[in-house]
Amino acid sequence: MDHLEEIRLRINIEDLVGGYVQLKKAGRNLRGLCPFHGEKTPSFMVSPEKGIAYCFGCHQGGDIFKFTQLVENVSFVEAVHILAEKANVPVPQKMPALNNKRLKVIEINKWTVQFYEEIMETNQGRKGYFKDRGLTDETIKLFKLGFAPDSYDQLKDFLLKKGFEKKELIESAVASQRSIADQNIFDRFRNRVIFPIFDHQDNPVGFSGRIMGEGEPKYMNSPETPAYNKSGVLYGLNWSKKSIKEKDQAIFMEGYMDVIAAYQAGTENVVATCGTALTPQQLKLISRYTKNITFAFDRDAAGMEATFRAIELAQLAELNIKIIKIQGGKDPDEAIQKNLEEWKKSVENPITIMDFYFEYTFSQFDKDSIEGKKKIMDFVLPLIKLYKTDVERGFYLNKLALELKTDVNFLWNDLKNARETKTYQGREPEITSAPKKRIFSKEEYLLGFILDNPEMYEEVSKNLIDNIALNSDTEKFYNLLKKVYTLGSSLDMSHFKEELSEEDREKIEIYSMLIEESYPDFSEGAAAKEVKNLIRGINQNNVKNAQKDFEIKIRTSEDLQEKKVLLSRYNELLKLSTKI
Ligand code: UTP
Ligand code: MN
Repeated sequence: MDHLEEIRLRINIEDLVGGYVQLKKAGRNLRGLCPFHGEKTPSFMVSPEKGIAYCFGCHQGGDIFKFTQLVENVSFVEAVHILAEKANVPVPQKMPALNNKRLKVIEINKWTVQFYEEIMETNQGRKGYFKDRGLTDETIKLFKLGFAPDSYDQLKDFLLKKGFEKKELIESAVASQRSIADQNIFDRFRNRVIFPIFDHQDNPVGFSGRIMGEGEPKYMNSPETPAYNKSGVLYGLNWSKKSIKEKDQAIFMEGYMDVIAAYQAGTENVVATCGTALTPQQLKLISRYTKNITFAFDRDAAGMEATFRAIELAQLAELNIKIIKIQGGKDPDEAIQKNLEEWKKSVENPITIMDFYFEYTFSQFDKDSIEGKKKIMDFVLPLIKLYKTDVERGFYLNKLALELKTDVNFLWNDLKNARETKTYQGREPEITSAPKKRIFSKEEYLLGFILDNPEMYEEVSKNLIDNIALNSDTEKFYNLLKKVYTLGSSLDMSHFKEELSEEDREKIEIYSMLIEESYPDFSEGAAAKEVKNLIRGINQNNVKNAQKDFEIKIRTSEDLQEKKVLLSRYNELLKLSTKI
């Protein structure tokens, strides 16, 4: 048997997708929030019968291989490797090798993680650093924390002895060279405690080394490598993804130590952005696991600013946002060490964006000066205006009146004149959640009906005018249907499908899912009526287009004889158009 078929047999699309998306039953299919784009109403459908997952909002999807490619952002070959491993079958021999460079870096990093871990257990190591910061042996082991010795060559000698080449050590960035021409390479991380960084699939992709006392840089990070795309990695996700899915919420922090301390304290649904500003790719990654995110950034001005930017991005991605106020320390790590109970309370009671904005503006502007009051109102009123009901508006206006020591009636008046905004930042969201169903043509809908109810083809063959051009995308399907239909006495669907390429077969399966999605509980009678409507609509369009073509041809034709023929065919068309 074909290797790919074997993998297909062993992995159900619903189980595979269920690992990324919460699915609910919807008739014969399952439905969930699309992992490929931000949305709040589910338009992502999984058909166990067809083995296909498809989003009717962003029009992406396919079988288990295509789905894996899309969701993991990998090539077809990589998808096959991932699924083969899941299915516990050998990778097809004819498959080309994976992206070698990336795999090589990961292999080197695996050895490096192990090396740093082992060094930490020796008397060169500084496990005491982590212990002093409150981490248990168990935590140190789980996060694979380690120590880079105060040496220029211990790691590189270890790796060269394993058979890796100098070039490869440079590429994985565990070693450096003074210049490209320089033959001498040396260990990048020296005399630092090490935090290995893993991607969400648990591959070590890079490292961060912290200086043990004061000094610059505090954290030294791996540069980007063939395995490490910084804007696409969230530190901690490999450990936290399970909890994130269970709690249906992810908490974002700034630092490695914040994530580790929180995890140890029992707040396991945590990730960190690792010194870079939050990116849209990171949000896309998290939205596979949850649409509810909470920011727990540092308490300082930089943390405020980071939260502010993060909210904007997360709103564009249509995620639900809350904010945790850090109490009793400058960051989650400190807050946890200071008062665990207090930390747990603030995790349980995150504040809303509106509360955060109130705090933000009041920290930025002086509420006691007229200037400051105006600035605060300019900022907050458009946001309050976004609320639809007077109850909500009144709630925040009262709060504002109290803080500004002014009369709430003045504020109601000013609210009327406040700037109108679409989102909190006054921008249209880039990603919309409304499924754009109309993108499918009538021809495609009709195909969907025929696939689900082959007996309806008779109606189509009788009434669809096929001597004029059909929509070019679907024309080949209609031609084939006709061919298969005329061969037998009825439409043999399996014969039809056999004649299609793999890609085309998937296309038409999506058309049939489209019908299940668009007309969930259609009776047979209603379906037959809809088919008639579609045929009429298609005929009307086609005749109209053909008429236009003829009009142009007739007008531009210089041959009298030809003109005559064209005119008579045009008149036939006119007759036809009155009939339909
Ligand atoms: P912080 O300076 O807030 O450090 O940087 P921290 O997380 O509190 O670290 P500790 O508790 O002092 O050990 C937050 C994050 O920014 C990145 C790191 O990811 C760090 O965890 N950072 C910071 C760097 O990449 N390089 C630096 O020099 C400093
Ligand atoms: Mn800290």
